Amino acid sequence: MLKVGIDIGGTKIAGGVVDAEGRIVEKLRVATPTDTASLADAVVDMARHFAQNHEVAAVGVAAAGFIDRDRAVVLHAPNIAWRDEPIKAALASRIDVPVTIENDANAAGWGEFRFGAGRHVDNMTMLTMGTGVGGAVVIDGTLLVGGHGIAGELGHIRFIRDGRPCGCGQNGCLEQYASGRALQREAQEIAEDETGIGAGLAELRRETGGLKGPAISRLVLAGDAGAIEAIRRVATALGEACGGFQAVLDPELFVIGGGVAGLGEDLLVPMREAYRTALPGYGERPVAEFAIAQLGNDAGLIGVADLAEVA
Ligand code: BGC
Ligand code: NA
Ligand code: ZN
Repeated sequence: MLKVGIDIGGTKIAGGVVDAEGRIVEKLRVATPTDTASLADAVVDMARHFAQNHEVAAVGVAAAGFIDRDRAVVLHAPNIAWRDEPIKAALASRIDVPVTIENDANAAGWGEFRFGAGRHVDNMTMLTMGTGVGGAVVIDGTLLVGGHGIAGELGHIRFIRDGRPCGCGQNGCLEQYASGRALQREAQEIAEDETGIGAGLAELRRETGGLKGPAISRLVLAGDAGAIEAIRRVATALGEACGGFQAVLDPELFVIGGGVAGLGEDLLVPMREAYRTALPGYGERPVAEFAIAQLGNDAGLIGVADLAEVA
């Protein structure tokens, strides 16, 4: 059976036709339109295109926001201008097969759990480091949804009291210290020390006019002390938070996704270290493994295709 998964990201919409084993049969990518009407059009166009070429049983759509328990309305989105957006109604009336909506990080986490880094465990927590920090929690093989549909918003736990303002309306959220964006902010700050540790980052900023994630990652791999320090800061924040997540969720495995995760062990080593400093009972209890997501940018579309309910 084939299902379509469509992952609406901040810059791109990635869609694919996915089979029952999580393999992508056909894939498309388009730029994300900024207004909601064009965004819905783009998703509908993509779904219709796939339906012309394949026997599609259902469509799943992943979106970066708080989705209600009925999986119909985006109640709130910290980094997008969606407020009480009836996203399912807007799509389902124009698509011939059943449409399922899911949170983007939940979708990615489910994809990794079924077909990627988490396929050998029953209890897995995923964190995605992108514009925001997304979370997904799989407990005893089931995706945690919560009483209002909004469980697993791991990026919005308060990490620092009176900390940086967050798009969710609060302050000090983990997302402000451990996202891809937070990495850029740390790098900017370190680059101010132009003659010291920030020399490499300052030079990169002069050459390219900014400090983007992939460029920072390249500097890390080249051994630049400032870039390594920037990574250490975000990895430490996320790792410490994972110590707390362990207390609540007790996963066997943390899976880390998003662009920054391309760094692999350069990210995971300082993360595990911070985790150990925050884990209650460390030394006298089992610990979780940390792994990088295996499905990369496709995790969300694969996961949401798998979650899409057939009539
Ligand atoms: C949002 C989540 C989303 C995550 C990743 C967070 O800011 O609250 O709903 O999953 O970003 O896009
Ligand atoms: Na989530
Ligand atoms: Zn927040």
